[in-house]
Order: sequence, then structure tokens, then C-alpha cells
Amino acid sequence: GAAVELDIGDLAPGQMKTVEWRGKPVWVLRRTPEMLASLAQTEPQVADPLSQRNMDEMTPPYARNKHRSIHPEYLVVIGICTHLGCSPTSKFDTGPQPSLPDDWAGGFFCPCHGSTFDLAGRVFANKPAPDNLQVPRHMFLGPTRVVIG
Ligand code: FES
Repeated sequence: GAAVELDIGDLAPGQMKTVEWRGKPVWVLRRTPEMLASLAQTEPQVADPLSQRNMDEMTPPYARNKHRSIHPEYLVVIGICTHLGCSPTSKFDTGPQPSLPDDWAGGFFCPCHGSTFDLAGRVFANKPAPDNLQVPRHMFLGPTRVVIG
């Protein structure tokens, strides 16, 4: 499929943008320093902290790191749950939900069977989703231009 080019120059810290690529939603989240700091907190709680499961399919080499991204600030993931393909909702800008872990720093929540993902798209342990959210192949053309695909 054709690559999609995206301008993220208008994305404020803490904001997320969705672009469609190959019929799938791709999320670009500009993480704040606090959001990035939360990844150290969630690291012991996620099932695959270094994204080693199905890495050839799910995580390109440049995203096999603790923040799962090229630039720490920008998370780029496909917004489809790796369990059975529902669309998770973002929970980083709302309060925690009653059924979610108390110490959950926020991230993404799949309403279908309750999988939760942190702000690097890493699935929390003991959830039905087998993999972290997929990082699509992508590259930066400049500080604020990203190409998906
Ligand atoms: Fe997301 Fe089942 S489809 S938890």
C-alpha cells in the first residue's frame, strides 16, 4: 500500500493524531516528559517490556527500545488491539477507570476484553492481548514530518 505522509508540527505535548494507513488507524502521540517518565513505572507491569515478542511483525528494529519509538517524544502505533482487533480507546487524558489497575499511569484500554496498554503501547501482563500494539514501518523526513509505510 501507499505510504502516508503526516505533518505533526501542530501536535501539542500530550496530544494524539490519527491517520489512516492501509485501512488501519495509526496513532501518533506526542508524549510529555511525564508520560515518558511513566514508562519506567509501567515497565515491571507489562508483559513484554522490550518488545521481543513477534518483533519482526510488531516492532521494527528502531522501536525495540523502552519508549518503542525513533524519537522518545513521538509514539507511532497502529490503533488496533492485538487480541481480536477491536479499537482501544485512549485513557491518558481522562481519569483511571474502576476496573483498571490502581497504579496504571494511563495509556490505552480495549473495551472488548479489557486489555490495557501503556503509553508505549505495551500490553499489561495477564491481559488477553498477546502482543504490544504494532509499530508500523515509518520514518521522519524532518522534525515534524513523518511517513508511515
Ligand atoms: Fe482487545 Fe480482546 S480485542 S482485548
